[in-house]
Amino acid sequence: MKLVNRIAVVTGGSRGIGAAIARKLAAEGAIVAVVYQSGVDQAQSVVRAIREAGGVAEAFAADVADASAVRSVIASIVARFGRIDILVNNAGIFEGRTFADIDADHVTRLFAVNMSSVLHMMQAAVPHFPPTGGRVVNVSTNLIYSPRPGTAIYAASKAAVSVLTNGFAKELGARGITVNAVAPSMTSTDMTAATPDARRQAVIAATPAGRIGEPEDIADVVVFLASDESRWITGRTLLTDGGLTDSL
Ligand SMILES: NC(=O)c1ccc[n+]([C@@H]2O[C@H](COP(=O)([O-])OP(=O)(O)OC[C@H]3O[C@@H](n4cnc5c(N)ncnc54)[C@H](OP(=O)(O)O)[C@@H]3O)[C@@H](O)[C@H]2O)c1
Repeated sequence: MKLVNRIAVVTGGSRGIGAAIARKLAAEGAIVAVVYQSGVDQAQSVVRAIREAGGVAEAFAADVADASAVRSVIASIVARFGRIDILVNNAGIFEGRTFADIDADHVTRLFAVNMSSVLHMMQAAVPHFPPTGGRVVNVSTNLIYSPRPGTAIYAASKAAVSVLTNGFAKELGARGITVNAVAPSMTSTDMTAATPDARRQAVIAATPAGRIGEPEDIADVVVFLASDESRWITGRTLLTDGGLTDSL
C-alpha cells in the first residue's frame, strides 16, 4: 500500500469521480475525509464502503465555494485527524451555456465552485501539511484544450484551475508540496448522465481507447499523483482521456 496513514481530503467525495478517488486512496491505506455539499446519504455510503473494506474515512459537509465554510471544515478535519498530507480538489459543477445566453450569474457560479474553491481549500489546508510537505491534486478537464460550443465558461473556470496548479506549484515547491491536476474527458457520472447518446457515441468514436472514461480511470492517476512515486512531477495538468484530446 502506497499511502499508509496519510491523511487525505477529497472534495466532492460523495459521488462520481470523487467517490472513486476516496475509495482508491483508502485502499492504499490513506485516512480519508470525504467532503460533500448536500448528498449526505451518498457521502455516508462512500464512508461505509471504505470502512467495510477495512479502511478509515469520515464525511464532512461544506460548500467549497464559501471560504468561511472551507476554513471551518478544514478545522474540523484537522481537529479529528491532526494534519493533512493530501488534498484532492475534485468538487465541481458543469453548466452549459452558449455565447448569447451567458450572464454574470453563470460566470460567477462556475468560477466560485470550480476555481475559487481550489484557492479556498489550498489556503485553508496547506498550513496543516507537515514540514516534510504533501500533495495537492486538482481536477480540471480536457475541455481546457478544446472547449465545445456551450462549454466556454466551464472550460475557462477549469483552465483557471490548471493555471493555479502551475502557479502554486512554484510557490509551494520549497515546502515539499507538489501541485498537479488531472484533465478527464467525458466520464461516466451523474454529471454526464443527461448527455445525449449521439454525443456520447461521437466521443467514443473519437477516443483511441474506444470508450468514455470511468471514475476509476481518473482515480488511479490521482492516487499516483498523491503518492511518493510522483515526486518529480509538479505544476502539471495530466490529460486522463483515453487519448481523445490533441492538446497544443
Ligand atoms: N464527469 C465528467 O465527464 C468530467 C469530465 C472532466 C472533468 N470533470 C470534473 O470532475 C469533477 C468531478 O465530477 P463528477 O462527474 O464526479 O461530478 P458529479 O458526479 O456531479 O459529483 C460532483 C461532486 O461535487 C460535489 N460538489 C458540487 N458542488 C459542490 C460545492 N459547492 N461544495 C462541495 N461539494 C460540491 C458534489 O457533492 P454533493 O453530492 O453533496 O452534491 C459531488 O460530490 C468535477 O470537478 C468535474 O468538473 C468531470
